[in-house]
Amino acid sequence: MTNTILEIKHLKKAFGQNLVLKDISMTVKKGEVISIIGSSGSGKSTFLRSINLLEIPSEGEILYHGKNVLTKGYDLTTYREKLGMVFQSFNLFDNLNVLENAIVAQTTVLKRSRTEAEQIAKENLNKVGMTEQYWTAKPSQLSGGQKQRVAIARALSVHPEVILFDEPTSALDPEMVGEVLKTMQDLAKSGLTMIIVTHEMEFARDVSDRVIFMDKGLIAEEGSPQQIFENPQKARTKEFLQRFLGHTP
Ligand SMILES: Nc1ncnc2c1ncn2[C@@H]1O[C@H](COP(=O)(O)OP(=O)(O)OP(=O)(O)O)[C@@H](O)[C@H]1O
Ligand SMILES: [Mg+2]
Repeated sequence: MTNTILEIKHLKKAFGQNLVLKDISMTVKKGEVISIIGSSGSGKSTFLRSINLLEIPSEGEILYHGKNVLTKGYDLTTYREKLGMVFQSFNLFDNLNVLENAIVAQTTVLKRSRTEAEQIAKENLNKVGMTEQYWTAKPSQLSGGQKQRVAIARALSVHPEVILFDEPTSALDPEMVGEVLKTMQDLAKSGLTMIIVTHEMEFARDVSDRVIFMDKGLIAEEGSPQQIFENPQKARTKEFLQRFLGHTP
C-alpha cells in the first residue's frame, strides 16, 4: 500500500491564449502539509481550482490513488467529496445558520441521516471553537474569523482526504488572522492532509512539511521550510521573500 493520495503530472491550464499553468507536477502524501507561496497572478488559485476540478485542466494528469481522474468515464463523485476546499471569501450559505451550514452537504450529497450529520457537524464545530452558543447564528452575525472557522468545520464534516485552502486568512481583519491560523495548525498536527495557498510566511514556515514557490505558472522552487526560507536557491525566490519578509532570507 502506498500512502500517496495525489500525483499531479505535467498539469497545464490555459484561459484562451493565456497559458496560466505551464507544466506543474506535484505529489501529495497522506498527512502532508504543503504550502504554496508566490506573487499575485502566478497561478496559485488556478492550480488549486484545477486540482479539485473547479477548473478543467487543459493538459496533464491528476492521479488519485493511482487512477487518472481526467480520464473519460472516471466517476468524479468520490473524488469531489474527498477534496475539501476553504476559500478566502468563506462561501457560506448566508440563509442557513452555523449548524445547518455544516450539515447540508452531508445530508444532500453524502445522504447521511440527519442525526449522524448533526453529530458530525457539532463535533467539527466544537473542534474549531464554534461551540453551541453559535450554532443558531446566521453567518451575517459572525466575525470574519468565526465565519472562516465555520467554513473549515463544514469542509471537515464531509470527511475529506485532503483540504485545499486558498488564502483562508487574507480577507480577515488582522486581529482575526491568528485564530484561524491556530485552527489550521491544530488540524495539521492532527494529521490532516492540507494544501494551503498563503501569504502568511511565518505560518508556512512553522506548519508545512513542504513549501512550493510558484512563479509565472511554474513551480520555481520547492523544498522544506528551512530550505525555502533560510536557503533559497533561485533568484526569483530570494526576490519574493525579500519583498515579503522585508529582509534577505
Ligand atoms: N476564470 C479565468 N478566466 C481567465 N483568466 C483567468 C481566470 N482565472 C484566472 N485567470 C488568470 O490566470 C492568472 C493567474 O491567476 P490566479 O488567480 O491563479 O493567480 P494567483 O496566484 O492565485 O494570484 P493571487 O495571489 O492574486 O490570488 C491571472 O493572469 C488571471 O487573470
Ligand atoms: Mg489566488
